[in-house]
Amino acid sequence: MKPRVALIGPGRLGQALTALLRRAGYPVVAVIGRDAARNRAAARFIGLPDEVAGTELTAAAAADILLLCVADDALRPLAQALHASGILRPTHLLIHCSGLHPADILTGSGGCARLALHPLQTFATAEQGLANLPGSFMSLQGEATALAAGEQLVRDLGGHHLILSAELKPLYHAAACLVSNYVTSLIACACDLLAEAGPARQHFPQAFAPLLHSAIANSLALGPEQALTGPIVRGDAGTLACHLQAIAAQHPALLPLYRALADQTLELAGRSGRLAEADRQRLAALLHNPAPASPGSALSEI
Ligand SMILES: NC(=O)c1ccc[n+]([C@@H]2O[C@H](COP(=O)([O-])OP(=O)(O)OC[C@H]3O[C@@H](n4cnc5c(N)ncnc54)[C@H](OP(=O)(O)O)[C@@H]3O)[C@@H](O)[C@H]2O)c1
Repeated sequence: MKPRVALIGPGRLGQALTALLRRAGYPVVAVIGRDAARNRAAARFIGLPDEVAGTELTAAAAADILLLCVADDALRPLAQALHASGILRPTHLLIHCSGLHPADILTGSGGCARLALHPLQTFATAEQGLANLPGSFMSLQGEATALAAGEQLVRDLGGHHLILSAELKPLYHAAACLVSNYVTSLIACACDLLAEAGPARQHFPQAFAPLLHSAIANSLALGPEQALTGPIVRGDAGTLACHLQAIAAQHPALLPLYRALADQTLELAGRSGRLAEADRQRLAALLHNPAPASPGSALSEI
């Protein structure tokens, strides 16, 4: 029989993860949160009767695995509250899902094994997370016994595990945010640039979809250096100058972001061997010119 699970913090990730564990044969004995109505709704989402939902931490005593899916900042106080409740036994496995924090943020856990299990997946809603989680990578960090249990959980969730040191977690999480949250922010910025696009505005962001999908697919299949296209790797100074001028005139708040990304792209283009050093230097000078060159003057350079 699979270990029994109690979910504490039935938000987007907690509901999706627990629903998948239930489908994989893990008995779910408690769904615990601060709001009774939200707890019942979460229990139903997971496929459980209302009776499993509650607001008392003591209901978690019947479980073998305590899945702590609260906000990152609430993890430490929750671990302390669990300790104070007196329900923790050394056989319990405490799991949190923060990409940033190490397992031992769950202090005062009375000798329980502790595991940080972080899905490299985004849970915009519980439904979407449930659909996308199988096949995802999930990072594991913790002591050896916790890691062994985590590997089994990841297998049962249909995922792939990768083991991290506690020290790497801040950089790992920053990298995950770059490819997830910040891609979302970039899409929002791209839409902002087109705020005055008139009737065409209604087609965004959907009109970006094929471009975005291809850029991601090519980056993964070919590697970023070979996947890179666009004015920078082509050495098109005139095009870059036009971008800078238009953004400076109409959306100046986005200029530092555009410059920073263009800088990174210059670096990537240089590394790829596809941009001559003289062109790289010319583009770098244009990028860091405090008053962007007019399209006319830049065009005269090429
Ligand atoms: N969402 C993602 O894409 C994602 C991806 C990977 C990892 N994670 C990790 O998963 C964990 C949960 O994130 P989430 O996105 O699922 O969050 P969420 O949807 O906001 O859900 C958070 C849950 O924690 C509860 N909670 C929040 N603060 C609390 C507090 N101070 N005391 C007690 N309960 C509290 C909330 O209860 P109320 O409903 O009462 O507020 C809710 O049930 C976090 O560690 C996060 O880093 C999330």
